[in-house]
Amino acid sequence: MTAQLIDGNALARQIRADVAGRTAALKARGIQPALSIILVGDDPASQVYTRHKVNDSTETGLQATLERYPATLAESELLARIDALNRDRAVHGILVQLPLPRHMDSSKVIEAIAPEKDVDGFHVASAGALMVGRPGFWPCTPYGCIKMLDAIGYDLKGKHAVVIGRSNIVGKPMAMMLLGKNATVTICHSATRDLKAMTLQADVVVAAVGKRNVLTADMVKPGAVVIDVGMNRNDEGKLCGDVDFEGVKQVAGWITPVPGGVGPMTRAMLLVNTLEAAERAAQSRP
Ligand code: GUN
Repeated sequence: MTAQLIDGNALARQIRADVAGRTAALKARGIQPALSIILVGDDPASQVYTRHKVNDSTETGLQATLERYPATLAESELLARIDALNRDRAVHGILVQLPLPRHMDSSKVIEAIAPEKDVDGFHVASAGALMVGRPGFWPCTPYGCIKMLDAIGYDLKGKHAVVIGRSNIVGKPMAMMLLGKNATVTICHSATRDLKAMTLQADVVVAAVGKRNVLTADMVKPGAVVIDVGMNRNDEGKLCGDVDFEGVKQVAGWITPVPGGVGPMTRAMLLVNTLEAAERAAQSRP
């Protein structure tokens, strides 16, 4: 058996087209959805990511502003800038690119963002809202994974989903989203005793560890859906995920590729969250 591919590029394209349409409708009402991105320091990867975020936004009609600050910026100055953006009615989403310089407390900074503008979904209020099933913002990567399962028409009710990884931005929120869709959820991590025994029971596996070959063909139940959140480099320097793609695709029913799977979906979901923030603001203050 060879797994069917879940094409993240194609799905992200559809999502961007939908965002563009809804953005045009808001603009017709005189509202310009706007995202403010803050980048502190000169981390090369962060520079690339934030440039992508600006370009993706602009291409769909959202306004994105990138504010760059030196790594020497005082935490108090950053907090003051976030406070000003919180108060600015023309700004609907605020994103502080991580990692921050070491002298800053990332949690304190993220929690300074007004929850109604937290389009990354990293604020504790967003995490709490997801946990209790209230409206809020879902972190973009697990949200993108859920959209991929929706796109293949996969009904999670009663299914066993195994999430490998317990980070605050992927593993934990992923588990909550799957639970919200009535799956039975197991979270595995570095201290899990027998990972293979867990994954062999799974109808859905989400691998979000950041290490190559965490999931190999012998660990997958035939026909399972495999979602690969990993972004690693192999020995030849090529981008690869956490899943042994060539092996696992012989066993799985569905699989996401790397690149071209979860990555483009993460980018698309930031646009969805930003638009959603603007739509909610328009609804609460028409
Ligand atoms: N750094 C790496 N990925 C992300 C992300 O999704 N959001 C933010 N704010 N920082 C990041």
